[in-house]
Amino acid sequence: MFVKDMRKPLVIANWKMNKLMADVEEFAVELKRKIPRGITAKVDIGICPVFIHLAALSREGLLPVGVAVGAQDLHWEDKGAYTGCVSPAMLKDIKARYVLVGHSERRQYFGETNEMLMKKLRAAVKAGLAPVYCVGETLAQREQGAAYSVLESQLEGLRQFGDDSLIDPAAFVLAYEPIWAIGTGKNATPQEAQEAHAYIRGVLAKSWNPQRAEATRILYGGSVTPANFGMLMACSDVDGGLVGGASLDPNSFIKLVEIASNK
Ligand code: PGA
Repeated sequence: MFVKDMRKPLVIANWKMNKLMADVEEFAVELKRKIPRGITAKVDIGICPVFIHLAALSREGLLPVGVAVGAQDLHWEDKGAYTGCVSPAMLKDIKARYVLVGHSERRQYFGETNEMLMKKLRAAVKAGLAPVYCVGETLAQREQGAAYSVLESQLEGLRQFGDDSLIDPAAFVLAYEPIWAIGTGKNATPQEAQEAHAYIRGVLAKSWNPQRAEATRILYGGSVTPANFGMLMACSDVDGGLVGGASLDPNSFIKLVEIASNK
């Protein structure tokens, strides 16, 4: 039942620590005004603002129908004494669909380890959120020829999510984001992206099963722009984009969504 066609293209905006409330509302209004009608039948769309803007953005009628909101992080506990954190139940409660897990900035600046990230993934899945698990190597690791072993170690814990009864394949997303490409203006070439995505899918096929791996969306992230996204989306194993800088402006975000919808 898992066929490749189940991989509906997906574009997720990762706004990181940007925008004030008024900017968020203005973006939503522009998006609603300019997004082609019916496009969400062909492409899934998610927007991840900072926590404090999430509830407002997911308010009924603000975003175009079919555009989901997501969080940039979560804690693995449902509630308790974790100052500054937000739980999976809270995200579900304000109707978030997606949650980024293991973005390289979380790994790098906040010391998130693979072990912590597996707890976050488990909690997200249990709460009925769709995690977007981010993996990727540094430039030094790539230059040392260690890119794939780094990916393998980041993917290792995913074995525990191999029980097909646990999740719908559309509700567990991977994102390949080479760290050297994030915010640098230097995206991976289509060939580099395709190779890494195929490698990741191969690891998923071994950890889960080949059909489930085929049905799982793997997004590319790292300096995606309307100018390079078409070539990246043309790669057979690239199923969408996780986009920072180019997602901040509604016009460029809509262009990306349109490109993805043509896959
Ligand atoms: P960028 O960020 O598109 O600005 O490179 C991507 C990301 O970090 O998710």
